[in-house]
Amino acid sequence: YLNYRVPQTRRDIIQTLIKGLQRMEYRGYDSAGVAVDGSGKDHAASISLYKKTGKVKALDEEIYKNNSIDFEAELDTHFGIAHTRWATHGEPSPLNSHPHRSDKNNEFVVIHNGIITNYKELKKYLVSKGYDFESDTDTEVIPKLIKYLYDNRESNYMSFSTLVERVIQQLEGAFALVFKSIHFPGEAIATRRGSPLLIGVRSQYELSTEQIPVQYNCSKSSSRHPYFSSTHTSPQTCSAHQDIHAIIEHTNKVIYLEDDDIAVVVEGKLYVHRIKRTAGEDPVRVIQTLQMELQQIMKGNFKAFMQKEIFEQPESVVNTMRGRICFDSNTVILGGLSDHLKEIKRCRRLIVIGCGTSYHAGVATRQILEELTELPVMVELASDFLDRITPVFRDDVCFFISQSGETADTLMALRYCKQRGALTVGVTNTVGSSICRETNCGVHINAGPEVGVASTKAYTSQFVSLIMFGLMMSEDRLSMQQRRLEIINGLQKLPELIKEVLALDDQIKSIADELHHQRSLLVMGRGYNYATCLEGALKIKEITYMHSEGILAGELKHGPLALIDKHMPVIMVIMRDACYKKCHNALEQVTARQGRPIILCCQDDPEISKMAYKTIELPHTVDCLQGIISVIPLQLISFHLAVLRGYDVDYPRNLAKSVTVE
Ligand code: F6R
Repeated sequence: YLNYRVPQTRRDIIQTLIKGLQRMEYRGYDSAGVAVDGSGKDHAASISLYKKTGKVKALDEEIYKNNSIDFEAELDTHFGIAHTRWATHGEPSPLNSHPHRSDKNNEFVVIHNGIITNYKELKKYLVSKGYDFESDTDTEVIPKLIKYLYDNRESNYMSFSTLVERVIQQLEGAFALVFKSIHFPGEAIATRRGSPLLIGVRSQYELSTEQIPVQYNCSKSSSRHPYFSSTHTSPQTCSAHQDIHAIIEHTNKVIYLEDDDIAVVVEGKLYVHRIKRTAGEDPVRVIQTLQMELQQIMKGNFKAFMQKEIFEQPESVVNTMRGRICFDSNTVILGGLSDHLKEIKRCRRLIVIGCGTSYHAGVATRQILEELTELPVMVELASDFLDRITPVFRDDVCFFISQSGETADTLMALRYCKQRGALTVGVTNTVGSSICRETNCGVHINAGPEVGVASTKAYTSQFVSLIMFGLMMSEDRLSMQQRRLEIINGLQKLPELIKEVLALDDQIKSIADELHHQRSLLVMGRGYNYATCLEGALKIKEITYMHSEGILAGELKHGPLALIDKHMPVIMVIMRDACYKKCHNALEQVTARQGRPIILCCQDDPEISKMAYKTIELPHTVDCLQGIISVIPLQLISFHLAVLRGYDVDYPRNLAKSVTVE
């Protein structure tokens, strides 16, 4: 965060940073820290660092306990950096938290999102040169390295950005970095490779252009551009996630940096340059205006973001379909895929890749995609897909499903498929995310910002998006028109049916009341509803910390049946579809072992109800859409269970919203 020549008190600056961190809290983290210009007359000649494990609130309290800080001091030029950490190397502790520093005088401080894979070699070298390390992190090599380069610079006139260029030439891995230094007061340098980074720009004046040119081999003094020289940009805010939450209350104008871009703010002007030009690259970085309002990320009357997001689903699925389905002509157009449709239709197979909930959206829609596209469809967990070095060919079309658009495993799988010449398609909820930008084409699911770590509305919107893709692919197949019509009608009625399910919330809560002392919960089903079981079990384990397993009912006799007795809580999903009879058989097996199943079934199904310990009766829809309806009671059960067990629903332990590390 940088503010230039607009006097503000130190309290304002710290508050801006802390608030930015709080807006990112939903992503999950274990510690936080800030670095601001120090107290004293020449404030920019020193840097104050504050770090704390736990919540951002604890960091805020820690800072205000410090009597030596002059909070009311007015500062003209100020640049502060702040960070929440999710431990990868080294346990959560103040020393392992960011910002990391070069030395006890805090000459250089750095925040980092990503992983430095060659940190051991760099550390060994720097230790041999007499640099002392205080943390167990990979990041700490970065401030040490820049200080080493500064201490050994060949000229006193070497700029901050030149030093940063030299640092990143030595780094391997993924990073988004922001640097601050007492040697370059009021200057901010940010750069990235592999990890996302955006810059928020706010101007006191009307912006005269919508882009800034990229410079090559320039020193900062030669890189002035009238665009910014006519304004005092204030503030400039860098966010090391492709996430606007931290800065949305200051600006909705952003620049997405590309790999190896170096962004320099000096004397209030922003410059972007690169070390060398590569063929065919874009010579400008466009300033984009994002359409997100602050209230979109506020909780309103709900207890938790997750609860709010569950209840938003009647609208979020409409937003996913808006402008894409014409219910009069039964046509579906996904604009982001239109140009590539012919190529997709010619492909040999579809590979759908994701992690966690996004993977489940692939499992949920696989059968209908196979039916509508008449193509083989593989659904893959990104990590496993890479571990297997799965063969991928030029005539494959690979879908990357990701709410955040930043999940490291999915992103790596995308790069892997791209290298092998496959056509890549992103299905994401985050406009401008890395997956959006690196895929050949894609679909925005338009579910709106999802803040709760446990994904809910993104799942149902991913589900709808993949179904729409199937419908678009089958538009010219005469034999499929009846089926298409049935699905399109089902989609039209979906929001009303979701509302009917949400109206069962009290009944679902009373079931959670009964279950919340249990240690384990099995969720069983098959066919179109197998994904519901996987997804329901994932929701339960991630926010209630109960053991939960999604079991394919077809596998019951091959092992899981041994778990069933009168004590083991089981939820079964039995809907009226082609698997109904088989599910009924599984139910018989369970009740024969004194199991007392809670059954999600269709309304008016006395056959099933009489064998159930309890039922949750759901509205019936087309088989391939039923999973959207049946997952909602499980989202609600997991929410109520977590509240009853006293856990923080939106910030489950050990988890992060956006997993940008392998
Ligand atoms: C579970 C959950 C995670 C994510 C997974 C992938 O509720 O949210 O399993 O689905 O980490 O994240 P995205 O979709 O952002 O790639």
